Amino acid sequence: MTGQDGISTVQDSKTDQKTDAAHAADAPAVAAVNVGKVFDGKRGAQVVALEDINLTVARGEFVSLIGPSGCGKSTLMRLIADLDQPTSGELTVFGKSAQQARLDQDYGIAFQQAGLLPWRTVRQNIELPLQLHKVGKAERTERSTELLKLVGLTDFGDNFPDQLSGGMQQRVAIARALAESPNLLLMDEPFGALDEMTREHMQGELAHICAETGAAVVFVTHSIPEAVFLADRVVVLSPRPGRIRAIVDVKFSGSVERTEHLRESDVFFSSVSEVREHLHGSADANPLGVDN
Ligand SMILES: Nc1ncnc2c1ncn2[C@@H]1O[C@H](COP(=O)(O)OP(=O)(O)O)[C@@H](O)[C@H]1O
Ligand SMILES: [Mg+2]
Repeated sequence: MTGQDGISTVQDSKTDQKTDAAHAADAPAVAAVNVGKVFDGKRGAQVVALEDINLTVARGEFVSLIGPSGCGKSTLMRLIADLDQPTSGELTVFGKSAQQARLDQDYGIAFQQAGLLPWRTVRQNIELPLQLHKVGKAERTERSTELLKLVGLTDFGDNFPDQLSGGMQQRVAIARALAESPNLLLMDEPFGALDEMTREHMQGELAHICAETGAAVVFVTHSIPEAVFLADRVVVLSPRPGRIRAIVDVKFSGSVERTEHLRESDVFFSSVSEVREHLHGSADANPLGVDN
């Protein structure tokens, strides 16, 4: 069960529920095999949202998902997060069912709206998942202090969300998603509501946080430069029904720090062009709902 703000409210214990731990130890973060999703539409009409999705996300890997509006990106995220179930194929998270991974709190979620609780301070928002899982006060304070530092909000713990800018609120949401040290982050257009400058700044911050925590990330965006800047691999989906059209290995993946210089580099542009060509069939076209 998941509350409005994307926080798991399931009380199951983290320790004794882990299935097949030995097997899970070397399993990838996400493995989708022939995954499909069909929704029942109005009057018996069916909507095929996803078809034959085969994708493996390694531990510690950053994968961006990009594709036209309505191609099934959010649907795929919801399947991984066990907020919905595939109609065909098999999906595992750290070698377990998506449901078991959710019960084990193997991932953190951050979506487009920061989804903070306005009546709780920044620190209390970050501590919410810990509080729901009955972590004691001293440990919560220690963890939230660490996380506030990580996302650069040390001086804002006692503020309320509406006293912060959009970018700062999104950083709080990311800190909250990291609260339980997940090995996987699921992010669905987390920077979609931010202005361009804040957005680029947040991309740099996220790259830094990922390098520090070593978490795998599945990141949905409709911005080609954002997808490329952050990812080790960019998965390009086709218009509905969403299928994987191409997987682009980002040329600089792993080898460089994600700094502002990178955005001006030839290697960055060549990956951007490659993704654009897969999306549109040519370097100049511009399909619905994708930013170049
Ligand atoms: N609960 C639902 N019931 C019926 N159709 C849905 C549901 N959720 C999504 N869809 C449809 O599935 C397709 C993919 O949606 P979505 O995953 O939200 O796309 P994206 O995130 O790529 O924009 C769309 O055509 C959408 O209308
Ligand atoms: Mg979506």
